[in-house]
Amino acid sequence: MNMLSYIQPTAHSAWSTYLSQVDRVVPYLGPLARWAETLKRPKRALIVDIPIEMDDGSVRHFEGYRVQHNLSRGPGKGGVRYHPQVTLEEVMALSAWMTVKNAAVNLPYGGAKGGIRVDPKQLSIKELERMTRRYTSEIGIIIGPQQDIPAPDVGTNAQIMAWMMDTYSMNVGATASGVVTGKPVHLGGSLGRVKATGRGVFVTGREAARRLGLNINGARVAVQGFGNVGSAAAELFVQAGATLVAVQDHTGTIANPKGLDLAELMPVVRRDGGVGAFTGGNTGAERIDDEAFWDVDCDILIPAALEGQIDEGRARRIRARLVLEGANGPTLPEADDLLADRGVLVVPDVICNAGGVTVSYFEWVQDFSSFFWTEDEINLRLDKIMVEALRRIWDTADRHQITLRTATFAVACERILMARQERGLYP
Ligand SMILES: NC(=O)c1ccc[n+]([C@@H]2O[C@H](COP(=O)([O-])OP(=O)(O)OC[C@H]3O[C@@H](n4cnc5c(N)ncnc54)[C@H](O)[C@@H]3O)[C@@H](O)[C@H]2O)c1
Repeated sequence: MNMLSYIQPTAHSAWSTYLSQVDRVVPYLGPLARWAETLKRPKRALIVDIPIEMDDGSVRHFEGYRVQHNLSRGPGKGGVRYHPQVTLEEVMALSAWMTVKNAAVNLPYGGAKGGIRVDPKQLSIKELERMTRRYTSEIGIIIGPQQDIPAPDVGTNAQIMAWMMDTYSMNVGATASGVVTGKPVHLGGSLGRVKATGRGVFVTGREAARRLGLNINGARVAVQGFGNVGSAAAELFVQAGATLVAVQDHTGTIANPKGLDLAELMPVVRRDGGVGAFTGGNTGAERIDDEAFWDVDCDILIPAALEGQIDEGRARRIRARLVLEGANGPTLPEADDLLADRGVLVVPDVICNAGGVTVSYFEWVQDFSSFFWTEDEINLRLDKIMVEALRRIWDTADRHQITLRTATFAVACERILMARQERGLYP
């Protein structure tokens, strides 16, 4: 029987999207292309069983993962996802995008990612804590402040990071605040971390809009996913004078061409866990069909939910001039080509949503020195790093006449493979 290797992608999966993105950059890597195969193979993948006692006395098992895709440039860095659709293949893709992203903004990290196949909303707070602690213990053999540093992603937050930090610290016998980032501020977390990814989406969006001659003041913005990333990005665009015309999350889609009022919307999201029930309000928001989201008339579209959202069909319908990928892997390769052909500019995930890991890096540095910066300092440094990284990517895109995605991969993969080459193969 011909068994497939685990690195063979399933059709239309996040991992297959990532692999085709790598194929596209190889022609621009020069002699470093010799090392390109290293990008297609995760360095290490750990699958763990997580048995916990439920509140009703029964025992349930969950499937957990931690993948370290590449550690050539430093310790692994990447989030932990709690979602019912998590698979090894998805975590492999997310860890690989972290390798590229960390190198694109020149952080001294490799790429990693973790996850548990679970719907966290179905667990009580105590069950969530037990599951998090057991998962942390199980992956404890490969994480650590100098080895691999997890952070929040879909379905996880600062409280979960606090439990992870405490569990790891208990196991090693000393407080190790640098083992995770995205912690609560009083436990060594960084000011500005919660909104950092959304801020990065805004900063890269602002720069891209400037180059397109699109004025943010008055621009119409549509956002898919109104969690940590989507809501923070929406808030900053609205503060800059943009109009939020549509929002979609897992509870439904709401729209208002005159603009959704965030001051009204946010309390509803906090109360209900989603935007679906928000209709009416002072300005008159309407619930629309989920699929109609992709037809909404807007200038800027921000996918900030999950992978694989923009396929060819949706890419044909998108009316925005600018797509800002807050989510990881929202656009399938064929859709990417179609958007490029249609003249829609896509700022790819691997630079657009790098604000979160950049402030995670600040948090890690602050934890080591036990010296903490002000929020203004954090935001200024974030802005500077993102603007500089995007400028370099843009120059590369102009030089080779390639998309921003392939240009980001070119800048990042050169750094990764140079490190690979200089370190050499052991033994
Ligand atoms: N949190 C971070 O710092 C960070 C950093 C970089 C990238 N990202 C990426 O951003 C994306 C969102 O992450 P987050 O941290 O905001 O997660 P989150 O859990 O805070 O929010 C996820 C949002 O997506 C929505 N959603 C889920 N399924 C959906 C569906 N089928 N259709 C429409 N909406 C749906 C949810 O309702 C929620 O609003 C993910 O792709 C994540 O990997 C997050």
